[in-house]
Amino acid sequence: MIKLGTIGTSWITEQYIEAAQNSGKWELTYVQSRNINKAQTIVDKFGSGTAIDSVEEMVEKSDLTAIYIASPNSLHFEHAKLAVLNKKHAIVEKPSFSNLAEWDEINALAKENGVYVIEAARHIQTKTYKHLKSLIDYKQNAKQYPFLGANLNIGQYSSKYDQYQQGLKEDGSIPNVFNPDFAGGSLYDIGIYPLYVAVDLFGKPQKSMMNVVKGANDIDLFNHAILEYDGFNISIFNSKAVHSVLHSEFYFDNELIKVNNITDIDTIEVISKSDSKVLDLSYPVENPMDDEVVAFAEMINGNNDAAYNDLTTLSRDVLEVITELKEEQ
Ligand SMILES: NC(=O)c1ccc[n+]([C@@H]2O[C@H](COP(=O)([O-])OP(=O)(O)OC[C@H]3O[C@@H](n4cnc5c(N)ncnc54)[C@H](OP(=O)(O)O)[C@@H]3O)[C@@H](O)[C@H]2O)c1
Repeated sequence: MIKLGTIGTSWITEQYIEAAQNSGKWELTYVQSRNINKAQTIVDKFGSGTAIDSVEEMVEKSDLTAIYIASPNSLHFEHAKLAVLNKKHAIVEKPSFSNLAEWDEINALAKENGVYVIEAARHIQTKTYKHLKSLIDYKQNAKQYPFLGANLNIGQYSSKYDQYQQGLKEDGSIPNVFNPDFAGGSLYDIGIYPLYVAVDLFGKPQKSMMNVVKGANDIDLFNHAILEYDGFNISIFNSKAVHSVLHSEFYFDNELIKVNNITDIDTIEVISKSDSKVLDLSYPVENPMDDEVVAFAEMINGNNDAAYNDLTTLSRDVLEVITELKEEQ
């Protein structure tokens, strides 16, 4: 059992704990919050672990193996640094780090200290995504005409968007996810999901650019990115400020591969030109983090450096593309 500590007490931490407990591979050992009562509520709910209010004290605990970090994006760096310096594996929520300098420093420290730093990109760990990957690989080889590209879309009206608009008008209090000081914004928060898919499937683009509509505080709200490859383009729409039902599509000859939800990757369909479904594939999951907690546990328990290196290379490549897209704004 991997002894798990957590940082951050919003719903996403509870979802990770639930999946971790369901897997039988993790044991909730510490729950950290700046407010000890919030930590205790989670300990009570999951019937395991000890509440603690200091990150510095938690990382020093000897009965702790790995820390799941779900603090605001801009704090991931200091939290992951404390974890790895104390020889604890760090599972860092996406986007793991705000820039390449932070990414490089933490990954070098992790290597020196013999631990892993894993960016928690849950969607590429799902069984349905693994099928999508083999299907695209197959289609790339079987296609008759050149592959021209794909449209990947995500528009998810944030539960914090109303608060953001209110904050701009009234007291200036801006939720972290729309706050540049906390490395917020649509690209970092959800654009990263389609970017992960594009870079995992097709590698780093030769060139990338992004058109952005910004909010009054300069945060990116409505983005259209183009990733240019040799002979094809991947277009990515992402926004935390609109409600969209657009799915995502990959085009091969006279068929398309449709992905209903690029953040969950729970269903894929192959649709022919006559609009008939040729394939419909979906693995129902109870908790969207079920597959990642198992994958990360197996990596840690098996000291699987090869799988770890693949994931970290992908994580850095994605951040390189994000950096280029940000520079374009
Ligand atoms: N994989 C997914 O599906 C998914 C979904 C949602 C979010 N996320 C990621 O999870 C992370 C957290 O997102 P979130 O929306 O939960 O963020 P959040 O609500 O802004 O903050 C998360 C937690 O961090 C702590 N915190 C907040 N502000 C802080 C501050 N100024 N200093 C220190 N601690 C602070 C709070 O815990 P305490 O008050 O208890 O200390 C809070 O519960 C982000 O990286 C986000 O991208 C991932």
